[in-house]
Amino acid sequence: MPDALPSDLLDRLSALLGPRGLLTDPADIAPHLVDWRNLFQGSSPAVVRPASTAEVAGVVRLCAEAGVPVVPQGGNTSMVAGATPDESGRAVVVALTRMNRLRDLDVTDMTMTADAGLVLKAAQDAAEQAGALFPLSLGAEGTATIGGVLSTNAGGNTTVRYGNARELMLGLEVVLPDGSVWNGLRRLRKDNTGYALRHLFVGAEGTLGIVTAAVLRLFPRPRDTALAFCAVADEDAALALFRRFRDRDESAVRAFEYMSGQGVDFAVRHIEGVTLPLSERADHYVLVDLASPRGDAGLRGMAESVLEEALEASEVLDATIADSDAAAKKLWRIREEHPEAQKREGASVKNDVSVPVSKVPEMIRRCSAALQALIPGSRPVPFGHIGDGNIHMNLEQPEGMDPAEFLARSHDIMDCVNAVVRDLDGSFSAEHGIGRLKTDMMAEWRGGAELAAMRAIKAALDPKGLMNPGKVLP
Ligand code: FAD
Ligand code: MLT
Ligand code: ZN
Repeated sequence: MPDALPSDLLDRLSALLGPRGLLTDPADIAPHLVDWRNLFQGSSPAVVRPASTAEVAGVVRLCAEAGVPVVPQGGNTSMVAGATPDESGRAVVVALTRMNRLRDLDVTDMTMTADAGLVLKAAQDAAEQAGALFPLSLGAEGTATIGGVLSTNAGGNTTVRYGNARELMLGLEVVLPDGSVWNGLRRLRKDNTGYALRHLFVGAEGTLGIVTAAVLRLFPRPRDTALAFCAVADEDAALALFRRFRDRDESAVRAFEYMSGQGVDFAVRHIEGVTLPLSERADHYVLVDLASPRGDAGLRGMAESVLEEALEASEVLDATIADSDAAAKKLWRIREEHPEAQKREGASVKNDVSVPVSKVPEMIRRCSAALQALIPGSRPVPFGHIGDGNIHMNLEQPEGMDPAEFLARSHDIMDCVNAVVRDLDGSFSAEHGIGRLKTDMMAEWRGGAELAAMRAIKAALDPKGLMNPGKVLP
């Protein structure tokens, strides 16, 4: 309830931020109160839109003094409702999207320093214009922000070559829960000076402070690329193909993505412009994206040669190699539109899990069988980053079933997948984080000393528990 806020807080925020910096009209704040998957509907009296680090610090200080929780929000593309306030109506949403400046880019240091609200795609474009590469890439890159991808330690399509967001970050600027500013925007590859504080905030999902800027690593831009879309015999063949490419030239494998026939069917059915690029449908596909900074790397020839070997070994059934940038983009869309296509097909439950790479085929098969036994007629849609052992073991509702009835089984579905994943030494959340959706799994998976240490860190930095409460820690 809005009246739970101290009466003068909104006036003080308004005086600090001006009219562009404070939204209170219910129509304006509505998009900030619901998560991308429409799983949680939160409530808040206000969304603040600070335009500078000093303004973020001022907001956090005022809220801390008033005992009011804050919820940091970037592009609001969280898959686990991490950026959605709870229903109490007490929390203020701090939207970082007005803070979208590129502060610095240096191609000798190979770094760029960006405000937290800079959209990921804009960061990629800025690097490209400077003749370099910022490699983090995911389906939400047109909306997700630098602060958001760091706070979730996002993975995405290029982790297999460049690592998660954490590996791409050298320094941070953070507003701490008491409103003080920590400037750790150091552009250093070597800096062993005590605890690596910056890494605490990566993957903290806004529970320890608000990231206001980051120093990011750049890489040489690719001068040779090749992209192949392949039908493969089964999950083992997908993995065998990954190994073939990795063995030939590990540094060239920029992305290696698995898709099931079911997922590709949905993309073709629901997304305009997406078509199957092969003459026959298959049950399993992979997308192989190769890139090298060497213009003479001969990647197309390499791809043809590896695919020929794999065809002879009956791992690959058919394949096509993109002959232009436009063709490559079209092939990538088949993969990138998977989340949207699943949304349009009906209700679905996501299981963003990881297992050791060698266990992926077994995990997909066991989970698919267990899920179909659990809900007859349900349609498993495993897809994703097989080279990292991270598969989105998602489940689409049976055709004709009431979506609400299906979603009421969400916990059974997640438990079903998690039981297999646990048996295979995996993780129940590979890249999307915990947010609000998975807090109740933390005690079981990360309990004991691990959770106690996390709680101690939280209590030390945020003793009043005002920074994104109800997220990550149960
Ligand atoms: P938000 O959703 O706004 O916030 C995410 C979390 O970070 C919240 O807990 C929020 O409180 C916190 N936060 C946001 N900004 C800050 C800040 N400045 N300081 C402190 N905390 C902050 N994720 C992957 O890892 N890999 C994928 O391949 C992938 N694909 C996706 C595809 C689609 C279509 C969608 C919708 C999402 C996908 N995601 C993926 C989920 C994903 O986590 C993100 O898109 C991204 O990391 C979130 O960025 P955001 O700016 O939208 O953050
Ligand atoms: C993706 O890789 O596209 C997303 O992380 C997965 C999802 O929608 O489940
Ligand atoms: Zn993913």
